[in-house]
Order: sequence, then C-alpha cells, then structure tokens
Amino acid sequence: MRIELTNGILFGFPLNILIENERIVSISRDSFPPTRTIDLQNKIILPGMIDLHVHVRDLNNSNKEDWTSASEAALKGGVTSIFDMPNTNPATVDYETYKLKLNAAQISKVNYGCYMGCSPTNYEEVKNALLQTDSIPALKIFLSASSANEVIEDENLLEKFLLLAKEYNKTVLFHSESQKFITRNAPLYSDNKYNHSKYHSLIRNRESAIESTKLILRLARKTNARIHILHVGTMEEIQLIREYKRTDAGNVYCETTPHHLFLNDIDVEQFGNYAKVNPPIRSIDDNEALLEALADNTIDTIGSDHAPHTIEEKQRDYRTAPSGFPGLETSLPLLISNLYHKHNFTLDKISELISKNPAKILDIKDRGEIKVGAYADLTIIDLQEEVVVNPLEFSSKAKYSPYSGMKLKGKVLETMVNGKFSQSKGKLIEYDQN
Ligand code: DOR
Ligand code: ZN
Repeated sequence: MRIELTNGILFGFPLNILIENERIVSISRDSFPPTRTIDLQNKIILPGMIDLHVHVRDLNNSNKEDWTSASEAALKGGVTSIFDMPNTNPATVDYETYKLKLNAAQISKVNYGCYMGCSPTNYEEVKNALLQTDSIPALKIFLSASSANEVIEDENLLEKFLLLAKEYNKTVLFHSESQKFITRNAPLYSDNKYNHSKYHSLIRNRESAIESTKLILRLARKTNARIHILHVGTMEEIQLIREYKRTDAGNVYCETTPHHLFLNDIDVEQFGNYAKVNPPIRSIDDNEALLEALADNTIDTIGSDHAPHTIEEKQRDYRTAPSGFPGLETSLPLLISNLYHKHNFTLDKISELISKNPAKILDIKDRGEIKVGAYADLTIIDLQEEVVVNPLEFSSKAKYSPYSGMKLKGKVLETMVNGKFSQSKGKLIEYDQN
C-alpha cells in the first residue's frame, strides 16, 4: 500500500510525501498516483516526537497507567516513540523483569523501549541483561529517591556502571539530585506549617541538584561514557553543563521538561500537589536560563517526564502525595505555544529538540527526521488553532494537570506511526491498509 500525503507544509514548503511499507520513499513537489492520497490542506508536518522520558507504569501499577492508555496519550500528543523508565512495580532491574515489561509493551500503539535500572545491588544482573539482548535502549540511574526507585550513592559503583555502559555502547540516563541533601533538609521542614508543595524546592534544594550534576560531570570526564542528564531545572546546572560542553570532548547531553521551562514557584503555590514533581519546579530566573540554554544548544532534548499517579494520591497532603503528573498530551502544544509563538524558536529547532536529538542520543536508527528511507513517524499540527487544556479528555488515566484550563496555541491534528495514521482530530483510528 502506498499512501501519498499531499499539500503538507514541510521545511516551510508545500511538499508531497510518499509512504510505502512504513517508510518514506519520496519527498517532492511531484505527485505519484495511483495511491491513496490524503490532502493535508497546508497543515504543518513535523517528525513525530520521540519522548525519552515516560513512566508508563503498567504491571502492578496499571491502575495509574498502562501501555494502552500511555500509548493512546502519546498519539493524542503527537508522540510517536516512548521510552519507559525502570522505577516500575516490579522494577526493571534484571533481565526477567525486562522481558515481562517488553511483553506487556507489545500492545503499545506507538514505538517503544524499556530502560534498565541500576541499583546498589544489581551490577551483575545489568551486565547479564546486556549480554542477553541488544534491545535495551539505555541504563537509568537515580541519585536520589523519587517514586519507588533504588538510589546509588557509591561513586565507585557509579563509575563501574558507566564503564559497563560504555563497553556495550549504551547511554546512561541520570536523575540528578543528591539524596544526602534531601535527607538532611527534610527534618528542617517537618513542622506542619511546611506541609505544602511550595516547600518542595527547599527540601529538594538547588544545592542537591547542583552537587549531583557536578558529580555526574566529574564521572563523565573520568570515564567518557555517554551520559544524558534528565530534567535539568536550575541555572547553575545549566552553567556547569555549558562549561563542560565548551571544554570537554562531547558525550554529555541533557534534557529539560516543559514544566521546568514554563512553570515556576508561583504556579506551585497555586496548583499545590498537581505541580509537585522531582526535581522541583524552580524560579522565573531558572525558566529564563533554560530558554537560553535551549537556544545555545546547551540543552539537547525536551522530554515530557510523563509521570502519572492517581488523582486520589495527588489530593493527599503534600508530604504523602507522590511527585509527578501526566505530560504526554500537553508537551507539544506547550512547546508550540511558548517556544514557537512567544520565543521565536523555529519549527526546525523544536524538531531537533524533540525528535532528532533524542534519536541521536539513544542511537535510534531511521527515526527522528523526515527524510527518504526513514520510518513515517509524523505529526500534523495546526499552528494557529487554540486549545484549552482539559484533563478530563486525556487518554492518560491521570486526569489532572497543572496546565488545566490553560489556553495553548498549536493543536496536534493527526499522528502517523510507521506509515499508519493512528490518531486524527483526537480520535484513535487506523486507516485500512489493504
Ligand atoms: O516527579 C517525578 N516522578 N520524578 C521522578 O523522577 C519520578 C517520577 C515518578 O515515577 O513518579
Ligand atoms: Zn521521570
């Protein structure tokens, strides 16, 4: 089956894309009948978002989210590949659970991968898993506790994991907050008057993130392993990473999230636990530093950190409510609305941040760019249409959001995964391929 997408705007021009057997076979001004022709009516075509930072949950936490709801949320948000974090129940810390996870993931409606988590005790298990399969997209290390994960604080062990990853040519993803500062700070805020999310960024303070990122950069320099520092949120870390990239030879990448870019302490005061997340949301000055770091390539990717919890859990008091909230359905509209419309980022630059660079960092072949030979993972958007965020309409099971009621400019119209339209105007579909 050949599908021709006509009149889509690509690289700023109206071009036709011909798709055959999952892949793009031609991009040109010409038309190629006889094919099924789909007129995109001058809407914008972007490469599908590759989201390296998703907590799908499933298995024992499928009440929070599962592969069906997460992948449908991805489709609605224009995301065509999702990568699942290992802090699940059971945790992905050995080959057996990895296989269990992959098995559950088969029903995903978007491309997927599952990371392997590192813990203080599973070095041999990780090594064994890497020996058994080449399909593990990356290793993940948490330097602090954050929703059911094990923390590694031993520098020698961190170095061992980095060298292991290097041997197998795998990227290591880091959650960069240092546990010792958080453990030290928590008792200082134990009085009930501090029982509000606005104190979250004082307990999980800037210092904890800064010191942790310093440690990661030290280890990066020593091992030259390929490292991706996740959800960077402070201007000091940005400066450290900028300096590292200027003076050291490559191999360190970093991510930020829409919430670290567009939310700040004023929002946390207002939205309480709905904006409780790790690392915490910081200040307007940090928002600005992150924007600058996107522009000068210090930040390489934007991930949603889609981290669904039940609304009942989020409605508990600050101390017992879990951190994280859904992001798959809001990320791309937030980026178009803010980066494109308000801050003059080009669509090319946004695509680099959400598609091309993620593919490069995990070495994902033939995805992340619209070009002949690549898989047809595409997102069609209307740049001008306004949407009001309504979490009750989310496909995610987590039907709340710190962006609830926010008016965004930029709507995801259709999402194509491997040459099949899977979502159109908010409805899940599959065009007949025969
Ligand atoms: O806020 C967060 N939630 N940060 C994390 O690192 C983990 C995530 C989760 O799994 O809920
Ligand atoms: Zn996360």
